[in-house]
Amino acid sequence: MIPIARPLISDEEKQAVLQVLESGMLAQGPTVEAFERAFAELCGVDHAVATSSGTTALHVALLAHGIGPGDEVITTPFTFIATANAILYVGAKPVFVDIDPATFNIDPSLIEVAITSRTKAILPVHLFGLPADLDLILEIAEQYGLPVIEDACQAHGATYGDRCVGSFGTGCFSFYPTKNMTSAEGGMITTDAAALADYCREVRQHGMRRRYYHDRLGYNFRMTDVHAAIGLAQLQKLNGFNQARRANATYLSQHLRDVTTPTTPAGRTHVYHQYTVRVPDAQRDIVLDGLRAQGVSAGVYYPVPIHRQHLYRDLGYDDHLPNAERAAHEVLSLPVHPALTGEDLKRIVNAVNGLVGQRRQDVQGSCDWRGGDGTAPRARV
Ligand SMILES: Cc1ncc(COP(=O)(O)O)c(C=O)c1O
Repeated sequence: MIPIARPLISDEEKQAVLQVLESGMLAQGPTVEAFERAFAELCGVDHAVATSSGTTALHVALLAHGIGPGDEVITTPFTFIATANAILYVGAKPVFVDIDPATFNIDPSLIEVAITSRTKAILPVHLFGLPADLDLILEIAEQYGLPVIEDACQAHGATYGDRCVGSFGTGCFSFYPTKNMTSAEGGMITTDAAALADYCREVRQHGMRRRYYHDRLGYNFRMTDVHAAIGLAQLQKLNGFNQARRANATYLSQHLRDVTTPTTPAGRTHVYHQYTVRVPDAQRDIVLDGLRAQGVSAGVYYPVPIHRQHLYRDLGYDDHLPNAERAAHEVLSLPVHPALTGEDLKRIVNAVNGLVGQRRQDVQGSCDWRGGDGTAPRARV
């Protein structure tokens, strides 16, 4: 089976972990600090604050911007649920703005009408590794005096113009094993603002500025030195990993037929956390099953947009966001990770082209992508 994701762990990571284990300094210590410095350098920012996950990075970043009950945060409905849940954790309300169907990222032309007196931040996601439309987002944010919190959990090393994502607003990254680089679990907040970084360091460690003096409510959102050691070793390889992902994506785009391949607007570098195509005419799930049967593990990110998840329906969300809903029915992510061989890439292309071509003849426009109201089937409890 060709997996949809595969972390590449080799001797460097193993040696680095062993060194930490032998040092006796296992909790947040010097290796976390070294990882923070190196990651800040990658992003071209003054400060990076490591956390236990991308979710906790988002949670702390929202707190650092003073966001809480009664506030609204504008974000995308087409992302991993952690983006929106972090807004709920601080007691604020996610306000969903539909996506640009070409990039799957938040459509900046729809942001302004969603702004109210309660709006306290804009939280774009650089989905699948493609930077969101930052020029327009930053322009609106400046006009309304709103901070931008970038969910860059899928976009390590992606650039917009000549700068890395995570350097435009307050950046939040994840090092979950499927990501472009991993620390097994972990997260990072990036910023140029020293006071904001200090606040984040306090909140991730029980609101503690001085040992056992607690000025505010905090959490245990620390990263361990064991995780940081893996992260540091992976960071040295990130550039090579991203180049391999881009080369794989180029091959796929050159050889796939009858599916809509990803686009990269000028001036942005896509790092292909996912290589996501659109499969037309309600064939997506059939193609997905067919690929699995042929030994290609593809994925659907995401089958249900957040406003259609039961959690959010139960909170009273009844938005109709047609581009996100349509994408949820059509997207299919194919393996693009750096461990793929040339033979793997050929197998993926042949399998997709065979399945889509065959299905195209079978269905010939007989189906509509709108199935029911698009809400996920509820799990039985
Ligand atoms: C867009 C996005 N936001 C947030 C997260 C949360 O990161 P983590 O799983 O490290 O908590 C992820 C990770 O899956 C993600 O893809």
